[in-house]
Amino acid sequence: MQNSYSVKNLQDLENFAEELLKWLQDNSINCVLLYGELGVGKTALVQKVAKLFGIKQKITSPTFVIMKDYPLQNSSVFSEFIHIDAYRLKNKDDIKAFDIDNLVKDNKKLIFIEWPEKIFDVAPSECLSIRFTVDHKTAVRELALSLP
Ligand SMILES: Nc1ncnc2c1ncn2[C@@H]1O[C@H](COP(=O)(O)OP(=O)(O)O)[C@@H](O)[C@H]1O
Ligand SMILES: [Mg+2]
Repeated sequence: MQNSYSVKNLQDLENFAEELLKWLQDNSINCVLLYGELGVGKTALVQKVAKLFGIKQKITSPTFVIMKDYPLQNSSVFSEFIHIDAYRLKNKDDIKAFDIDNLVKDNKKLIFIEWPEKIFDVAPSECLSIRFTVDHKTAVRELALSLP
C-alpha cells in the first residue's frame, strides 16, 4: 500500500479499491474515512468496494438516510458493509444514536465514512484516512492515505 495514488479514471479507482480491500483485510482495519470536496469521488470508491463484495443494491449518497448497511455473505473477514455519508448532518449530536465509535470497535463490520469531519472532533485512531483532491483540468484524482 502506497501513501498516495493517482487515479485517472474509474478503472484506476477499481484497481485501487481492490488493493485497498486486500490491505484492510490483511491488516485488520475495518474503518475508512473519506475526506474531500463534493464530486471528488468518495461515493465512487464506496461503490467500487461494494462491487468487489458482489453487493447488488445501488450505492447512492442518500438524501435522508445517513447510514446504510449491507450484509456480506461472501467475505471471510467482514460480515457487514456500512456506508455512512454525513454530508447533510447538521449537528454532531444528531448522529450519537448510531454509536459509531462502537461500530468501529466491531471488527466484523467494515465501515466507510464520507464527511467524517462532520461526525468526529477527533477521528478514531484505528481508521484509515483517505484525502481526495481533483485536478479540475485533467479530472485526475489524487488519493493521499494516512495509515493508522
Ligand atoms: N476516479 C474517477 N474518474 C472518473 N470519474 C470519477 C472518478 N471518481 C468519481 N468520478 C465521477 O465523479 C462524479 C462524482 O463522484 P462522487 O463519488 O459522487 O463524489 P463524492 O461522493 O465525493 O461527492 C460521479 O459521476 C463519478 O462517477
Ligand atoms: Mg458522496
